[in-house]
Amino acid sequence: MGTELVTSPPDEIDRNTGSMPATRVSTAGAFMMRLLLLVACAVLTTLALGGPLLSRAPDSIVGSFVVNLLLITMMVMALRVVRPTIHDSGRALALLGGLVAFQVALAFLAVRVRPASPELVPIAFAGVVISTLFDRRVSLLTVVLLAVLIASQPDYHSAAALPVMIASGASAALAVRSSLRRDQSYLWILIIAAVSGVAVTATGVAAGEPTWALLAGVIRAAATSVVSVISAMLFVPFAERLTGRETHLTLLEWGDLHHPLLQRLSLEAPGTYAHTIALANLADAACRAIGANALLARVGAYYHDIGKLSKPQYFAENQPRGHNPHDQLKPGTSASIIRSHVLAGVELASEVRLPAAIKAFISEHHGTSTIAYFMERARQPDGTVPNAAEFVYPGPIPQSAETAVVMLADGVEAIARTLADPTPERIREVIDRVVQQRLDQGQLREAPITMRQLSIVKREFARVLGGMYHARVEYPKTPTRNQPATV
Ligand SMILES: [Fe+2]
Ligand SMILES: [Fe+2]
Repeated sequence: MGTELVTSPPDEIDRNTGSMPATRVSTAGAFMMRLLLLVACAVLTTLALGGPLLSRAPDSIVGSFVVNLLLITMMVMALRVVRPTIHDSGRALALLGGLVAFQVALAFLAVRVRPASPELVPIAFAGVVISTLFDRRVSLLTVVLLAVLIASQPDYHSAAALPVMIASGASAALAVRSSLRRDQSYLWILIIAAVSGVAVTATGVAAGEPTWALLAGVIRAAATSVVSVISAMLFVPFAERLTGRETHLTLLEWGDLHHPLLQRLSLEAPGTYAHTIALANLADAACRAIGANALLARVGAYYHDIGKLSKPQYFAENQPRGHNPHDQLKPGTSASIIRSHVLAGVELASEVRLPAAIKAFISEHHGTSTIAYFMERARQPDGTVPNAAEFVYPGPIPQSAETAVVMLADGVEAIARTLADPTPERIREVIDRVVQQRLDQGQLREAPITMRQLSIVKREFARVLGGMYHARVEYPKTPTRNQPATV
């Protein structure tokens, strides 16, 4: 295979990075935005938690600012190593910067409510939000560095601040998994409150505090845990919209096959619905095998062809044998109907407010490939095709590993379905052909998927399709109509 792909190690495509929109920080403007974010967070921390400004010497303020800037820069550099896709997303970075600033502001308020009480800083809020939206690794990294940042400020120079804040933040980061259900939040509160309570008690005992003071500290820690988790749960939907990322829970909601739109698809375009379910199984298995977001790929597959709802009978999988409305149409008209299922799908998605990450599957699953069957029919004797642009899908080409897998699965499933004798060898031939075609057309050049991952995807397609067809009863062959296989 001669095509060069964007390469990224498999561990960079974790279960949560697939839905990251392609807002890559690569321009000078984006660099400035990042620098401003760093400086703003450092200035805020220096001013809010450095003690009364007027009583501080200018060089002490500058010194604190440099230390704070260094710590926050380390946070960003660590993020670059741990999760490059999040580091490269301007919107995700803005959210993380906003969370740091928000936590610093809360720490400022907490110290005014009650000095030397680090258990009042709701650092678990950031832990819950980041774990739910991104993953536990990013969350742990952020809360630990945030705890170090706040604890190192003059307002929090008590020895107990660091362990108490790390205990509360890290327990939130580790307890919350994006795949957990919302009704499990009471469990998160219990874990965070228990760990914070132990930290407060242990540091209080070490400092020789009386029992009543220890008890009061534990109650404050528990109350902070409750407030942190509840407010984080309320904030997550806004954060989803801000970053364009969908959490596991949102995907599960849209992945319910009883959703009215999917129910409509099953009734009005049963062939497309069957294709959708088969495609979802293929994409799910392949994405799971390469470490991409399998749930996102599955749900994206469910909705990828909803645009066919506007004219279901014009698509091969919904046509009864012997009836093809394209027979009466010019190739250009047929192609524009086929092409319009992408545009109609995007429109329908906007109407029902389908999340952006799922909507991407509608616009990207055909990329900018050609509607080859009708293009060939329109070809003139001299080899030219009038209005050739009408025979090309609008795109864009796949931008994520998940949409790339769905594009490949779409082509493979549509052809495999029409095989009269789907032996494992023929299925493998179809898979090789479709993948090679998409590579040759440059459809995968912007997707973060490696050649090694592509060979795993092909293997998974062969395994799942083999399982789907191995028990199929062989019917006597009927003459097949020469229809477009992939639409
Ligand atoms: Fe399609
Ligand atoms: Fe499709």
